[in-house]
Amino acid sequence: MSLQDLIPVVNKLQDIVTTTQVTDLDLPILAVVGSQSCGKSSVLENIVGKDFLPRGTGIVTRRPLVLQLINLKEDDPRINNFEHSSSSSSNDENSDEIDLEQHLRNHVNKSNGYSNGSIKSFNTNPATEWGEFLHIPNKRFYNFHDIRNEIQSETLRIAGENKGISRLPINLKIYSTKVLNLTLVDLPGLTKIPIGDQPTDIERQTRNLILEYISKPNCIILAVSPANVDLVNSESLKLARQVDPMGKRTVGILSKLDLMDQGTNALDILKGSVYPLKLGFIGIVNRSQQDITQNKPLEDSLIAEEQFFANHPAYKIMSKKCGTRYLSATLNKILMNHIRDRLPDIKAKLNTLMGQTEQELAQYGDIPSNLNDSKENRGVLVLNLMTKFASSFINSIEGTVLT
Ligand code: GDP
Ligand code: NA
Ligand code: MG
Repeated sequence: MSLQDLIPVVNKLQDIVTTTQVTDLDLPILAVVGSQSCGKSSVLENIVGKDFLPRGTGIVTRRPLVLQLINLKEDDPRINNFEHSSSSSSNDENSDEIDLEQHLRNHVNKSNGYSNGSIKSFNTNPATEWGEFLHIPNKRFYNFHDIRNEIQSETLRIAGENKGISRLPINLKIYSTKVLNLTLVDLPGLTKIPIGDQPTDIERQTRNLILEYISKPNCIILAVSPANVDLVNSESLKLARQVDPMGKRTVGILSKLDLMDQGTNALDILKGSVYPLKLGFIGIVNRSQQDITQNKPLEDSLIAEEQFFANHPAYKIMSKKCGTRYLSATLNKILMNHIRDRLPDIKAKLNTLMGQTEQELAQYGDIPSNLNDSKENRGVLVLNLMTKFASSFINSIEGTVLT
C-alpha cells in the first residue's frame, strides 16, 4: 500500500467538500526534522518517489522547502491539449515504453541528468507531471533535475553562498496524476557550531525555524535520527517532544542503519522499548553519498533497502515493518485516520445541506421537464444529487478504510 492508493478516496472527498463548500478536508502537513545530514531530504524524496531534492554532506537544505503535491486527473484542463493528444495516450500510464518524440517535444533532455537513471525514470509521461515554483510564475519544470537545480540556485540567491540559512521558504508545487494532494516540508538541519556566514546563534535560529512548522497541531513530525549516533542525543526527538509531548503525531525514523558498527543493531529502538512513541520507529536505509554521486536510481535503492532488511540477521524477523515502503504505509494509515476523524463532521454538514436543498426543491413544486428553462432548478437538482451521492460515498468508505 502506497500513498498513491489514497488518491481516489481523497479526490472524491475533496470534490465533495469543495463542491458543496461545507468544510475542508484539512489534511495534515508532513515535516522532516533532524540534525544536519541525518537523511531528511533523502527520506522526503523516497516518500514522494522522485529524485529532485538537493542532498549531500554538510548543510545543503538552507531554506524551508514547502512542497505541495497536487493530484491531476487524466483529463485536467491544465494538462495542455497538444501534449495530451500525443501518441502516448493518458490511459497507458503503466506502460514501460518510452515515447521519445514526446520527451523531445517536452524538452526533457536525456543528457541532462536522466542518462544514468533506470528505464523506470521514463515511466512517466512528462506532460502530465511537472513542477512550478512560486518565485517563477507560469513556468513549468518537466525535468526533475532542473527542479533540483532551481532549488539550489534559489537557495544561493536568498541564503547566500556561505552556509547561511534563511527562514524564507521556497514554495514548490508538483502537479502529477500520480501524487496524493499533500503538503510536505523539508527543513534545514539542527547544528550546534556556527560555520561560514552562520550567526553565533545559528542553533537557536534553526530551532525556532523548525518549531514554526512543527508546532502546528496538524503537522505530522517525521523525526529522523541517524542510527550511528546514540538516540539519547537525538535532536529531532528533543524538538518533537517539545511540541508533541505525548508523541501522538511524531513518527520516529531511524536512518543510516547500514552505517552502524559491526555487531551492533537498533532492534530495541525499532521495537519501541527504548523511546516511547505512539506511532513507533521505522528503520530506513537511504542512498549513501556514493549512491548519490553515482546517480543510483531511486527504484534500485528501494529494492536494495528491502533486501538489506530481509537479509539482516537482526532485522529479518521484523523486515516487513522496516523501510521506506512501510513508512509510506504508515503515513497512509495516519492520513486515513485523519480523514475518518473528519467524516462525521462532513456528514453532518452534508445532511444539513441536503435538508435545505429538499426544502428549496419543495418550494418549486413539480420539477419542470425542460430543465434548461431554469438555471436555479438545475442547480438545486445537481446539488441534491451531489449531496446524496456524497452521503452514500462517505457511508461506503466509513466502514472500510480503516483496519
Ligand atoms: P539531510 O541533511 O538531513 O537532508 O540529509 P541528506 O538527505 O542530504 O543526506 C545527507 C548525507 O547522508 C548524504 O550524503 C546521503 O547520501 C547520506 N545518507 C542519508 N541517509 C543515509 C542512509 O540511510 N545510509 C547511508 N549510507 N547514507 C545516508
Ligand atoms: Na545534508
Ligand atoms: Mg536536507
